[in-house]
Amino acid sequence: MYKITVIPGDGIGPEVIQAALHVLDALPIEFDFQEARAGNSCFEDTGTTIPDETIKMAKNSDATLFGAVTTVPGQKSAIITLRKELDLYANLRPVKSYPGAKSVYNDLDLLIVRENSEGLYSGIEEYTLEGATALRVITRKASEKITKIAFQEAYKRGNSRLTAVHKANVLKKTDGIFRESFWDVANEYSRLDGYRNIEVDEVYVDAAAMFLITKPHRFQVIVTTNLFGDILSDEGAGLVGGLGMVPSANIGDHNGLFEPVHGSAPDIAGKNMANPTAMILSVVLMLQFLGENHEASKLEKAVLNVLREGTSITPDLGGTSTTMDMAQAVKDNYQKI
Ligand code: NAI
Ligand code: MG
Repeated sequence: MYKITVIPGDGIGPEVIQAALHVLDALPIEFDFQEARAGNSCFEDTGTTIPDETIKMAKNSDATLFGAVTTVPGQKSAIITLRKELDLYANLRPVKSYPGAKSVYNDLDLLIVRENSEGLYSGIEEYTLEGATALRVITRKASEKITKIAFQEAYKRGNSRLTAVHKANVLKKTDGIFRESFWDVANEYSRLDGYRNIEVDEVYVDAAAMFLITKPHRFQVIVTTNLFGDILSDEGAGLVGGLGMVPSANIGDHNGLFEPVHGSAPDIAGKNMANPTAMILSVVLMLQFLGENHEASKLEKAVLNVLREGTSITPDLGGTSTTMDMAQAVKDNYQKI
């Protein structure tokens, strides 16, 4: 029995969470789901976007499923607080083509490993006389940790190339440290069995943004700092059918939190038309994290079949189905596999 904290959040968050739980119901695994609150509606009711209770529940769970929250400027970010409190220092964002989604390329399968605990997301900003400044915190420790995770992911995927993305020519000190840490770890790993064959290289972030569009196949696993990873993974989402398609995993040494890359999408909230794929694929990542690899691949296959058939897909994919229709189709398909 796995204890899972479920945080629906705001906007389409509760809609895609409901869809994911509907699908999870078909799995032969016992889950104890415990709902917790976060986000803007939580703030309106309780005065905080992220109650201590929610953090405590997530810490004491085997995994957490997070829908999406609406972030109002000035409010504390629920998701960034959770990432910090649970020390979820790695954000894994697969960019994978699925049939039926309007992809620029139909054969992409790369992974963006984003540092999740520091960088420009440290949120240390200050007004100055002229405007404002932001502090970009980069430590050797976090840079080494994220590079190790990236190596392990490259190894698991049987991939042959790991690329560091940075801007060390301009951000000489911060990205200088990130770059140095990356090569230190690379030297260490190049001596380990199994890792020797992983080719290692580096690309500046601006060039990486272009290559993702013109030559995405040159990338297999990318490791980068927090904000660059955030931006490049949305670009990656654009390559494989949009934000409705892309899941993510936030991983630390003790906890895992799984969420779609998209936000609360207020423009389509309440219309039952959100694409549940990103959330369901986040469940696939959660199952892998829990070691339930068999069910994970079955569920991924069910999503793939529904996308390929193309008869039960949401409007963003060119269909007319509702969120729950699509979830039902995935569930039916899963039960047939
Ligand atoms: P967004 O990801 O919510 O939406 C961007 C566009 O993609 C919208 O046109 C939306 O309709 C579409 N879209 C997103 N998910 C979709 C889905 N599952 N199916 C179909 N279409 C989908 O980003 P936006 O508009 O910049 O932010 C909206 C709110 O979400 C803001 O308050 C923002 O702060 C918050 N946000 C929260 C995140 C989180 O909870 N981790 C991440 C990103 C944004
Ligand atoms: Mg983003």
